[in-house]
Amino acid sequence: MSSDIEALLQEHRKFEPPEAFRAAAQPNDPGIYERAAADPEAYWAEQAAKLEWMTPYERVLDWKPPHAQWFVGGKLNVSVNCLDRHIRTARRNKAALVFEGEPGDKRTLTYWDLYVAVNQFGNVLRSLGVKKGDRVAIYLPMIPEAVIAMLGCARIGAIHSVVFGGFSPESLRDRINDSQCKVLITSDGGYRRGQVVPLKRNADKALEETPSIEHVVVVQRRPGITSGEAFDEIKEGRDHWWHRLMRHAPIWCEPETMDAEDILFVLYTSGTTGKPKGIVHTTAGYLVGAETSSRIVFDLKEDDVFWCTADVGWVTGHTYLAYGPLANGATCVMYEGAPDWPEKDRFWEICEKYGVTILYTAPTAIRAFMKWGAHWPAKHDLSRLRLLGSVGEPINPEAWMWYREHIGHNRCPIVDTWWQTETGSIVISPLPGITATTPGSATTPLPGYSASLLHADGTEIGVGGGLLALTRPWPSMLRTIWGDDERYVQTYFAKWKDRPDLYFPGDGAKRDEDGYFWILGRVDDVLNVAGHRIGTMEVESALVEHPAVAEAAVVGKAHDLKGQAIAAFVTLREGFKYDISLRDELRQFVGDKIGAIARPDDILFSADLPKTRSGKIMRRLLRDIAEGRALGDTTTLADPNVVNSLKEMYESQES
Ligand code: WT7
Repeated sequence: MSSDIEALLQEHRKFEPPEAFRAAAQPNDPGIYERAAADPEAYWAEQAAKLEWMTPYERVLDWKPPHAQWFVGGKLNVSVNCLDRHIRTARRNKAALVFEGEPGDKRTLTYWDLYVAVNQFGNVLRSLGVKKGDRVAIYLPMIPEAVIAMLGCARIGAIHSVVFGGFSPESLRDRINDSQCKVLITSDGGYRRGQVVPLKRNADKALEETPSIEHVVVVQRRPGITSGEAFDEIKEGRDHWWHRLMRHAPIWCEPETMDAEDILFVLYTSGTTGKPKGIVHTTAGYLVGAETSSRIVFDLKEDDVFWCTADVGWVTGHTYLAYGPLANGATCVMYEGAPDWPEKDRFWEICEKYGVTILYTAPTAIRAFMKWGAHWPAKHDLSRLRLLGSVGEPINPEAWMWYREHIGHNRCPIVDTWWQTETGSIVISPLPGITATTPGSATTPLPGYSASLLHADGTEIGVGGGLLALTRPWPSMLRTIWGDDERYVQTYFAKWKDRPDLYFPGDGAKRDEDGYFWILGRVDDVLNVAGHRIGTMEVESALVEHPAVAEAAVVGKAHDLKGQAIAAFVTLREGFKYDISLRDELRQFVGDKIGAIARPDDILFSADLPKTRSGKIMRRLLRDIAEGRALGDTTTLADPNVVNSLKEMYESQES
């Protein structure tokens, strides 16, 4: 079967960087791409020079496909790079973290405050017997202690494994056991939509079957409020209150000297099937990727207020809430709760209140904002915003334009950033002072990276659709999968038989005449209609362009003649109602927009779509529904009820 993917969507709007933005941007010289391509190792050496090293490295890269070592022989400490070097300067009293809890509580930590807390926590970990190379699980809400705990681990060379606070006790247990964590850091609760998420209680359940855990450190989320619903007990000997341990901890903690290739963290990612993969990231390469991309993609300047809305439980929170901006000495906003609590303008209230200048969020959030209506952001002064970012999924052109108009007021460039847990930092993205952007395209690989579009046989596609490949190693690439190097090789470097140097991210993409990449979604999700391979993104984008549609997910469903027929699951914007004529209108609309081949056979209207807790639509479950199968694993869903009610609706609408 051909691996080519049809390119159906036509999108020609282009937006040059506004002149004032371009003039001040770093970098703003397009020559950076050529220079980096001419000598990628020299380019990365230049970036690595921005860090503080304890011992210089001897060689930039040692590449024995599919294993890479970067900055070989170099020694450094990540927490020193994120903190110590700033507190020696005027940044000492600059805000590092500006935190707002969902109930409205606020805390600002200066670089000095964060430095002190991280040193103390490093000492706490050492006092609990944690040594370099030991694993520490972090299961916390979005509170400053999450960042303090991560950096505290980095200070003493412990490997952190952050588990998203929305995950179940079983998910936490499996992740702890896979990497044999010695200490767990959690809290008596976190706030989400006005409710207390009982993290400690979940943790206690997980702890029944995690023999490797010796100590549990519990953060008191809201001192003074000892609500019985938040936690059950503090187990003598095993459990310790964070604030009690910190009270006596000395404020100087000698940073561990880390080898460039020592592991900084493990982060589990579910993948489409099978057990979660512990993605392994190392010290120097990861930090170079995080520092460089934060600086050049977000054009970070001294007085910026950067808000990455992702949870620290995802890689986006690791790289762009913690390590990247902190390595740059930036001010970061951190918000604990939901975007619609207490009202649907919470994000815009936060942007206004703290003078956010750079906002980095996800298409799923943007589509929710669209659905709620533009009057919510219109209530707030967003004039400090100067740059917008998007990450996590393909952003359909309609959402991109809405973001540009209603949040960026047609003034802010948008960077659509493609990357993965595995890549560690952004790979394909505009540089906002250089690249002309176009709605729906992540544009081109950043300097120092190289991507290709390939057929299944490894031959190259110039213009058209195919499999995305990264053709050169990069500093922040994953090094392996925890405990399963063979799975690393098979998953990422075995797609093209005689090319063990090509990285396969699992995404389909197309490339247009300008050389811009358009990510079309996971290849496992690609539709095959009468021999035409069609990316889910293009049909979804066409649907969302219709004024009635807020969000759409399409899947292939077995069909006798065509191989697959297209089933679309659609949610409507506020004020629109489903009826049979709207269904026919939408089918026609997609046909007119991108061609009859892509016209959905079935359309199901629903209030919600099944999403993972990170906001990705689970098409695998939608396929189960469309093909009338029993539902597969639903444990990673944010709200498992959505999929059951969808299944019932689908079955009744069909008959
Ligand atoms: C997958 C990686 C990147 C950090 C958060 C998600 C999809 C991500 C984009 C984008 C189109 C995107 C890809 C990728 N994806 N960003 N800008 N445009 N698709 O990390 O959970 O590891 O997911 O998310 O399919 O492979 P992740």
